[in-house]
Amino acid sequence: MIKKGIILAGGSGSRLSPLTKIVNKQLLPLYDKPLIFYPLSILMLTEIRNILIIHNPNDESNFRKILGDGSGFGIKIQYKIQDKPNGLPEAFIVGEEFIKKESVALILGDNFFYGQGFSKRLKNFAKNNFGSTIFTYSVNNPKDYGIVETHRNKILNIKEKPKKTSSKQAITGLYFFDSNVVNFSKKLKPSKRNELEIVDLIKIYLKNKKLKVEEIGRGSAWMDTGSIDGLFETSQFISSIEKRQGQKIACLEEIALNKKWISRSSIKKQINFYGNCEYSRYLKKLI
Ligand code: DAU
Repeated sequence: MIKKGIILAGGSGSRLSPLTKIVNKQLLPLYDKPLIFYPLSILMLTEIRNILIIHNPNDESNFRKILGDGSGFGIKIQYKIQDKPNGLPEAFIVGEEFIKKESVALILGDNFFYGQGFSKRLKNFAKNNFGSTIFTYSVNNPKDYGIVETHRNKILNIKEKPKKTSSKQAITGLYFFDSNVVNFSKKLKPSKRNELEIVDLIKIYLKNKKLKVEEIGRGSAWMDTGSIDGLFETSQFISSIEKRQGQKIACLEEIALNKKWISRSSIKKQINFYGNCEYSRYLKKLI
């Protein structure tokens, strides 16, 4: 069972400049909420309530302004600085004290997932994670991602942003690891682009025969919010679904209320905090 989760919410956000010159990428709006609400909602839906947000120096106060210590959502949030974007596996070195000797989920702060039955599947995988579980999604532009190359269900190779590949299976930014992840991360060497690479970490689990690859089917959505177009298109996607259904994607209070992690009075406090806005009116309807 995985009970701890890390959201990696640092990085330079260079592809989104000038937007990210003053605001961290994960605090930009994705339609009607800050981007970080979405990966946080995924951890909550996986029943992970103990969360570490890793952020750039000086950003903690901004994240705290909107998320606090997590009690408004019935969870516990801690914060830790990553000095420089030295690569995704650094999350497990920065997060060593938080992880202790337990399994952990990592989600990238800019990843958006949506789909029927997705949270049920995630809970199941979190319960049955032995080693590492990663999630792939078929995309049209595999060269922009880490990818898994397979032949007849056998994993042949795992590569980061390959110039050439016959695979369309991108590795999404959600990963489950056992407690060995801290020591494995410490042994990694920086790649040519001078970063610790998540694919090198995953390859250790593959070599040890402890890697499970789960494909997220085409009935679900995994969207890229790391580029201007991606951010805009994902916002449009959320807007269409929310308007059609009258239900919000990644409303953290709604998830917490459904799970009985918070009471109606906590929702009232959140309504006061957000003030007179559409999100508050949605919360009012819930109670
Ligand atoms: O989104 C999935 C992809 O994420 C995977 O397919 C790739 O294998 C993986 O390397 C990663 O690729 P990206 O090029 O999208 O990673 P990026 O550098 O944009 O970082 C993703 C998020 O993590 C972003 O929100 C910033 C944050 N980050 C990144 C790095 C390298 C940090 O907080 N610290 C870091 O050191």
